[in-house]
Amino acid sequence: MEIIPKKAALGAEVFGIDATKPISVANKQALMDAWHEHLVLLFRGQDLDAQQQIDFAQTFGELGMPAQGLLGLGKKPSQPKELPETISCISNIKHNGKAIGNLGNLEAMWHTDSSFVDRPPSASILHSKEIPPQGGNTSFLNMYTALDEMPGFLRQKIEIVKCRHSQVHSSNGVKRPEFAEVTDISQAPGPEHPFIRTHPESKRQCLFLGRRLNSFIPGMTSAESEEILDEIWAYTIQDKFVWSHEWEVGDILVWDNRCTMHHRSAFDDNHRRLMFKVQIMGEVPV
Ligand SMILES: [Fe+2]
Repeated sequence: MEIIPKKAALGAEVFGIDATKPISVANKQALMDAWHEHLVLLFRGQDLDAQQQIDFAQTFGELGMPAQGLLGLGKKPSQPKELPETISCISNIKHNGKAIGNLGNLEAMWHTDSSFVDRPPSASILHSKEIPPQGGNTSFLNMYTALDEMPGFLRQKIEIVKCRHSQVHSSNGVKRPEFAEVTDISQAPGPEHPFIRTHPESKRQCLFLGRRLNSFIPGMTSAESEEILDEIWAYTIQDKFVWSHEWEVGDILVWDNRCTMHHRSAFDDNHRRLMFKVQIMGEVPV
């Protein structure tokens, strides 16, 4: 096994692993160390079925649930029947006019997965089966560096307050049908998490934002909260903190939701994109 860091703010590619085979104890430790150092790991040329992906994902911790399951909403009826509930289909493909997966072809705005629950997932493991000729790239942002380089006057504004992470919308900005429209951001449902958390493995502090849409700082007016959130988000989304990945069929990306955010660019809905995702259980952010 060989691990080659990307020449970027984060990310590394792993060579010499067949993800359909059990990972040795020594390689597992080396993978965990590399993951904690580089935050996102890329494995190319893989071809896993659902169960093999679920097995491989557990290299990185205890199996968790997709967003729907974490929210207690059960498996989405649109998801393929044969899929176990611990794996979700991310796709714009439609069968008989109905989407077989989540997120469609729209842009997925900067976010960290499922931060809208008390114990957000630590890792996401995404595996590509079909990709469009252009677009649908996934970019990652290093939230350690974003915090390390944050000017003191900004850091002061979020150091002692918390952020409420809204459960209402998916990362592509589409409202979940189970929730009412948000007419007052101060009332959007979701847990409160610290803006600055300590990663349980690295023991380093990092920025934790979740997603911008309907975030709210309890104890403030909506206007005050919006102003601070706009300022923090404008500072955070900078190219110097980002690595962008162009997908090939057979890629697996493993990312750490505690210390990264990610973004997916939109793509032409006339082309098919098919991926499968597994999430690993995380901890209450502190
Ligand atoms: Fe995501």
